[in-house]
Amino acid sequence: MVLLAVSLAGCDQNVTRVSGGERWEDAPPIKVDPAARPLAGSTAPLSGDQIPGMEGKVPPFIKVFFMHQFVEALYSVPKNRHPNPKWESPLKDPVNGRVWCTDCHGDKFDFAKMPKQRFPQVDQLEKDHEFMVDLMTKWVARLNSDEFNAKSKLKKKVECLTCHETDPREQ
Ligand code: HEC
Ligand code: HEC
Repeated sequence: MVLLAVSLAGCDQNVTRVSGGERWEDAPPIKVDPAARPLAGSTAPLSGDQIPGMEGKVPPFIKVFFMHQFVEALYSVPKNRHPNPKWESPLKDPVNGRVWCTDCHGDKFDFAKMPKQRFPQVDQLEKDHEFMVDLMTKWVARLNSDEFNAKSKLKKKVECLTCHETDPREQ
């Protein structure tokens, strides 16, 4: 578990803000071990406090749940609190042309080993407005970015209101 969290934290090349305003880059150097597959075991620590260098941060594997939620929201009614009542899939082909983890993260990791799992910390984070806005803003930016593959699967630019009834940043 520790190894996965640590290796993923090391993988993101972009400036990655976690709630609290710190950047992964500010954390001590991290060794990437692509062979690590700790999710296979699966008793997760509840916060980064058990992981050296990640005290007070959200461990990367907790975000896996949200990633699955967001990917699903591109082809089925979003499971956020107030989904856009007129939601329709922004994908060109919601059946055969879905966005997958590798579109945004490359194929460095075996995403088949990151199943959707609801860890206890997810309950807290769903209610953490700042965390959710931050995570979603970055996710949507990468979705619409020319630098990543996901954009080619979209029929049009995705915005907060694609999935939310009202702009969550104004709540
Ligand atoms: C549209 C682009 C996009 C897709 C698709 C996507 N992700 Fe992410 N992912 C991101 C962004 C942006 C971050 C950085 C979020 C942050 O740091 O708060 C991230 C962060 C993560 C992290 C935390 C580690 C890190 O690099 O910060 C994990 C783990 C992760 N994603 C797994 C997945 C999995 C599993 C899937 C498929 C179910 C997936 N992602 C699909 C954009 C994407
Ligand atoms: C592709 C659909 C999609 C888009 C686009 C999207 N969201 Fe979300 N959003 C979700 C889903 C699904 C959840 C529920 C995640 C969970 O709780 O597991 C969510 C949850 C949230 C929450 C937590 C409250 C709630 O309604 O559940 C906030 C805050 C939020 N999103 C902000 C944003 C912001 C800001 C943007 C634009 C930058 C945005 N979202 C764009 C799908 C989307």
